[in-house]
Amino acid sequence: MDRPTTNDQRPPAKDHFLTVVDFIVIGGGVAGLRAAIGLAAGRVLILTKAGPAEGNTGYAQGGIAAALGEDDSPSLHAADTLRAGDGLCDEDAVRVLAGEGPRYVGELLEWGARFDRDERGRPALGREAVHSVRRVLHAGDATGREIGRVLWDRVRALSTVDVVDHALVTDLVISGGSVEGVRFFDREGRLQEARAPRTLLATGGAGQVFRETTNPAVATGDGIALAYHAGARIADLEFVQFHPTALKKEGAPRFLISEAIRGEGARLVNRDQEPFMTRYHPDADLAPRDIVARSIVREAERNGPVYLTLRHLDEAYVRRRFPTIHEMCRGAGLDLARDLIPVGPAAHYIMGGVDADEWGRTSLAGLYAAGEVACTGVHGANRLASNSLLEGLVFGARAAAAMQERAHPAALKADRIVARGSWLAIRGHASAPDREPAGGTPELSAAARRDLMWQRAGLFRTHTGLQTALAVLERAESQPFDAGVEGRRMRNLVTVATLIARAALRREESRGGHFREDFPARDDRAWRVHVVDQLERT
Ligand code: SIN
Repeated sequence: MDRPTTNDQRPPAKDHFLTVVDFIVIGGGVAGLRAAIGLAAGRVLILTKAGPAEGNTGYAQGGIAAALGEDDSPSLHAADTLRAGDGLCDEDAVRVLAGEGPRYVGELLEWGARFDRDERGRPALGREAVHSVRRVLHAGDATGREIGRVLWDRVRALSTVDVVDHALVTDLVISGGSVEGVRFFDREGRLQEARAPRTLLATGGAGQVFRETTNPAVATGDGIALAYHAGARIADLEFVQFHPTALKKEGAPRFLISEAIRGEGARLVNRDQEPFMTRYHPDADLAPRDIVARSIVREAERNGPVYLTLRHLDEAYVRRRFPTIHEMCRGAGLDLARDLIPVGPAAHYIMGGVDADEWGRTSLAGLYAAGEVACTGVHGANRLASNSLLEGLVFGARAAAAMQERAHPAALKADRIVARGSWLAIRGHASAPDREPAGGTPELSAAARRDLMWQRAGLFRTHTGLQTALAVLERAESQPFDAGVEGRRMRNLVTVATLIARAALRREESRGGHFREDFPARDDRAWRVHVVDQLERT
């Protein structure tokens, strides 16, 4: 039998503790919790990096989309998801999401989710961009928090599920090519090890890679980095969704101002109070997110700050429907119902991630992925609003079902191009990126890296800008990292940033969240493909 190893190949620490279970779930958001509920026939260990509600789930405002309305159907929901995805969605994954959505949202309702109700007592359905009908269930403007509450209540009642919080997973333990467990630092900074034949990554997003983000501090892309370093396939990382409307006020946190606000009639205006979005897209304020985000930047460059206005809406309704945002605005000295609210884009969601099929199976035996960390292809190049909580629920439940099967057929989807080590070979470029940026230094502070990613790999990308970013990041990646918690966090962020910049440089077209100023058109002939990065094992 192979001796188990971790991907950093360090010998086990002498004082580490070993836990053996049937299933390990990394992450305490909607995907991880829903999976844990499905796995509870065995012994489950949930490892969460922070406390409950600190991940992206707890921050999700808008809601959860599901085809429950009388004028709706799974096929209409699927069609809207495909439209948002800009020609790159995996249609099987979309059918699963839209088709199974009502069942899993119904289950949440049975479990006591307190969503807002309409006058007939049915779940009230909100509207967001690119949805052709009202389809978004919501709990005020704190839907993720409510779903998290329901799932945590169920998980806590399960005697077979243990939760270790403030656990930072450092490595996957691999034996004979299969993932057989994890190593992690516990709350006291001690190294621990857990073994299980099946491990689920449900670690969420990576917004902290960028200077401006709606994501909480824990969204550092750990699952993507762990899987990549272990040799798993990573797909589509060039596709980052920049939410158009984060609060943009000097000294105030960049908190999300939900798209649901525009769904209920709020308008984007420039400093002349002109509703400018009609000049950029026929769907105006409810155009796809990437278009609204770029239009805001262009309008700001042309004419100064951009605002959201709700002044024409009923004040009492605004306060009742959006209490959290109202409160956050108040903290920043603004009245949501009466003031012009200054806004700008911020990194919000990553469509790419660990390559996974519709059952969460990754390219590594024993390793599964669900939720934002996974790339099933369900979102294509741009996620439809309010499909992310649904994704966590549906694919978390399906991953749990697959993890209980004996076999783990690797997820090897046919429509992927695999970039092993040298991506240059694939596109046939003549020149490699500059190794040394002008005036660059090997030291890269966290703030400088986030700023670099925002400037060079954010909403507007160019070959030169991405080359510069990549050269700096690759240099940072080759430096030794401290083996402690902070060093791990930094390594993960640098790995994910490097993968994003490399993927964005590679894709010479514009599609969904990925916009190249030097290749502004969508190019289906050359680029209607998913590209997968995989570390060459030597
Ligand atoms: C929002 O409320 O605008 C964000 C919801 C989402 O990202 O789907």
